[in-house]
Amino acid sequence: MSTKEKIAIIGSGNWGSAIARIIGFNAARHDSIETDVHMWVFEEQIDGKNLSEIINETHENVKYLKGVKLPTNVIAEPDLAKAVTGATLLVFVMPHQFLPRTVPNMKNMYAPNARGISLIKGIEFEHSKPMLISELISKTMNGMDISVLMGANVANEVALDQFCESTVGTYVPANGEVWKKVFDWETFRVSVVNDVPGVELCGALKNVVAIGAGFCDGLEFGGNTKAAIIRIGLEEMMRFVEHFYEKVNPGTFFESCGVADLITTCFGGRNRKCAEIFAKSKGAKPWDEIEKEQLDGQKLQGTITAKDVMTCLKAADVVGKFPLFAKIYMISFEGEPVEDIVKFADVIAKH
Ligand SMILES: NC(=O)c1ccc[n+]([C@@H]2O[C@H](COP(=O)([O-])OP(=O)(O)OC[C@H]3O[C@@H](n4cnc5c(N)ncnc54)[C@H](O)[C@@H]3O)[C@@H](O)[C@H]2O)c1
Repeated sequence: MSTKEKIAIIGSGNWGSAIARIIGFNAARHDSIETDVHMWVFEEQIDGKNLSEIINETHENVKYLKGVKLPTNVIAEPDLAKAVTGATLLVFVMPHQFLPRTVPNMKNMYAPNARGISLIKGIEFEHSKPMLISELISKTMNGMDISVLMGANVANEVALDQFCESTVGTYVPANGEVWKKVFDWETFRVSVVNDVPGVELCGALKNVVAIGAGFCDGLEFGGNTKAAIIRIGLEEMMRFVEHFYEKVNPGTFFESCGVADLITTCFGGRNRKCAEIFAKSKGAKPWDEIEKEQLDGQKLQGTITAKDVMTCLKAADVVGKFPLFAKIYMISFEGEPVEDIVKFADVIAKH
């Protein structure tokens, strides 16, 4: 039996495909990892042909990462149980709303010593408290150790080999080193920290701040205002992590997953773009319509996360301590005027 690590990627969207390219390169160059990497593809028809077949024939995900070639050792597999068979390293990378219907189909086909890593940005809640996606995966996978990878990593730029950094958060330092081997590449520099909640919540919460930044752009506010939204957003991200989790490492916020990801998401990325369109329509255009028109099957995370964050804040009775998060929610879902993005006094007074 092989003692080499065997990687399976669960998801093949924009980020899934971009990171599959780097994983494929690393699997091919490290002796301790099997060269072939299986990537589970949620099957779709493109011009009458299966997406998985197109990927295996052309080495391109023509729907989610057009124009970028994947290494030939990345093999698309539409059957999830087959994709994970014998895998020791499971990379979870799909919009989090699809996790519950996907994970149970893995039927324990992966290796008994398997470890996982989540690249998923989002938040769930249980008993009105936040629950990390990594915790949720671990729970469904019989307590499997799940690390996280987050950073200033817009998929299309990573796919073009534009230099960036990323952060692995782990509970088990030895697993952190394994994941570093899987992801670290000359144009994709990975650092490891022992802080899963800090890294993961940075990744989820910055999408909410990006909605606020998009509102500023739609309202044609200048750089000063957007910078203020980003600063207040960072402060509320830290406060959220400190409120709901103990032992948070403030240094995490200076890693790529913190301030760097926040900046890139507030200037590029799908959340900012959709929020700009929402603001230009004065809040009249429904989010699902914007998502459909702009994202071609990709998912908008920031609005879902804004809702989940608000649920947690209300349950903990701390809305007043998070006026920016609250405003973003109220504008997005309660019909508040978009211009009110910079008026916090009412939230603080009311709560
Ligand atoms: N795109 C980025 O730049 C980027 C960067 C870092 C992290 N992320 C995060 O990575 C995660 C995955 O994002 P992405 O960009 O790879 O995805 P995406 O939004 O590009 O693609 C959607 C994916 O969902 C799949 N899908 C559609 N319907 C499905 C169903 N019913 N069941 C299962 N799968 C279904 C599609 O096949 C596709 O692979 C998200 O949490 C995202 O926030 C994205």
